[in-house]
Amino acid sequence: MIKKLFYTPFLFFFYLSFAQNVSTPHLEKRGNVTQLVVNGKPFLVLGGELHNSSTSSAAYMRPIWEQVKKKNLNTVIAPVYWELLEPQQNKFDFSLVDSMLTGARKYNLHLVVLWFASWKNGYSMYVPSWVKNNSDKYRRAKDKDGKSLQQLSTFCEATAEADANAFRTLMKHLQDVDAKQQTVIMVQVENEVGLFSTPRDYNQAANEAYNKSVPNDLMQYLVSHKGKLQPELDSAWKSNGYKTSGTWEEVFGKSIVDKKNWQTLSYLTEELFTVYYYAKYIGKVATAGKAEYAVPMYVNAWLKQQMTPMPGNFPSGGPTPYTLDIWRAVAPSIDLIEPDIYVPDATYVIQQYHRPGNAIFVPEIRPGIRSANEAFWVFGEHNAIGVSPFGIDDGKPEEDPITKTYAALTQVKDLILQHQEDGTMKGILVDTINRSQEFELGGYHIKAQLGNGSLAELAGFSVGEKKADIAGGIVINTGKDEFVAIGKDYTLTFTPLQDDGKTIDVEYLDEGTFVNGKWVTTRRLNGDEGTGGGDYGFGFKQGNNGMIRFQPSPTGDYSIVRFKMYRYW
Ligand code: DGJ
Repeated sequence: MIKKLFYTPFLFFFYLSFAQNVSTPHLEKRGNVTQLVVNGKPFLVLGGELHNSSTSSAAYMRPIWEQVKKKNLNTVIAPVYWELLEPQQNKFDFSLVDSMLTGARKYNLHLVVLWFASWKNGYSMYVPSWVKNNSDKYRRAKDKDGKSLQQLSTFCEATAEADANAFRTLMKHLQDVDAKQQTVIMVQVENEVGLFSTPRDYNQAANEAYNKSVPNDLMQYLVSHKGKLQPELDSAWKSNGYKTSGTWEEVFGKSIVDKKNWQTLSYLTEELFTVYYYAKYIGKVATAGKAEYAVPMYVNAWLKQQMTPMPGNFPSGGPTPYTLDIWRAVAPSIDLIEPDIYVPDATYVIQQYHRPGNAIFVPEIRPGIRSANEAFWVFGEHNAIGVSPFGIDDGKPEEDPITKTYAALTQVKDLILQHQEDGTMKGILVDTINRSQEFELGGYHIKAQLGNGSLAELAGFSVGEKKADIAGGIVINTGKDEFVAIGKDYTLTFTPLQDDGKTIDVEYLDEGTFVNGKWVTTRRLNGDEGTGGGDYGFGFKQGNNGMIRFQPSPTGDYSIVRFKMYRYW
């Protein structure tokens, strides 16, 4: 009997976690880190997003699947369009969705589905004709002068219902045809939502809501999370006296408008109000979909940036980083809020979004050499779930820099996943502006520097090589004094944190690869290819440190090295 009592709940919980693992891709917390679990195992998304219209044609896509596979992707981020899924109300056509599943499966690729529905880049261009042509029922947002905008209003139950119904039907279909294979591993709900040309909707319902009390669900969240809110929201609430009731302007203040400093949160109250109603609407759509098939769901943002500093220049109401609490308060079915990165410096953006309660997934980043290097940094430094350059159907695999990045990451992805939660991994990103990066890891002060550290480079010879302008990489502390590093075009200098009077040196340095998760050495690097390219013979070494570099590959591939430090006396 005792045994029975003990085993029954145990088996039940075992069954539950087993059932969840095998039945649905989901997010799982491991310590402070959130991992995406697919087919019961942590999964790193090496992704690429297709152009907007690509999956509207199975014929167009036919050669693309093979092409992206050759770019070493494991996941394609691909739109499903409401207008083509439900061309007539309640008549659904799954042929394009099914062709995506077939194409992806043929090449053993996963899919992240983009639900292009009520809004795509703010505008409502993907809604079916029966929505477009019925503005009485599916109402538009209005600007301050009362002029109707192209964009559908969040203040319209009929539109939210219609979108939710279509999304629910899509997710039910995916549950029916894909729950076993788990081709689809996440869904983005809508795309870069928000209002253009106005910081908030001014239609009648919106005006009424703006002058009413802040709704209870948000107010209760603020009260129960007081002291733990994101700083920008806390500051707006605090500077108006932490009121627990009142209109939007009473609780968050009358917005300031600063035209000189783009980083000022101008029109913040209008923006927060607008986010609340987008989050409510999208939360409703996501909840309807999750009731059928609960894969992780996220929203993506068009960023506030110098070029588009004010809400309304960038879509007002989208998931800007400082609105995370609002999404958490009213749209708990949205698991992540994420940035689309087209600005030069991805690091600032990622730091903005990597907040307590929000893991990093980069659904869109500008393609090219920069993001192909930043990808290493995002995985190594921010425990990212995935990265995905936009327009992945462009360019031949041998010309797209992401191909080599993903070739290297494919080998080390299991090692990365193992080291995500214990602080034993660092991302490297050095370029011609920030030529070096310093950090502590595994008992060492480590300096990463741009340059391949070759003898020619150290001695200043010119050998006609083109010097790299950027280098990304990852360093992982795999054991006492042991490390694995991935990259090229940067060096690592290790100085012990504690001076024990002994001298540090490199015990061994191997170049290699991971085959089925196991390290296989391809070359022992020593002598000229060893620690610093002439450290010993030419006296370049200064101080008690050891230097590691990567051997340039004739094909420009990234290398993986495994090495150990030792001390002599
Ligand atoms: C961001 C959008 O989310 C994408 O769909 C695409 O339109 C790119 N911008 C543009 O290039």
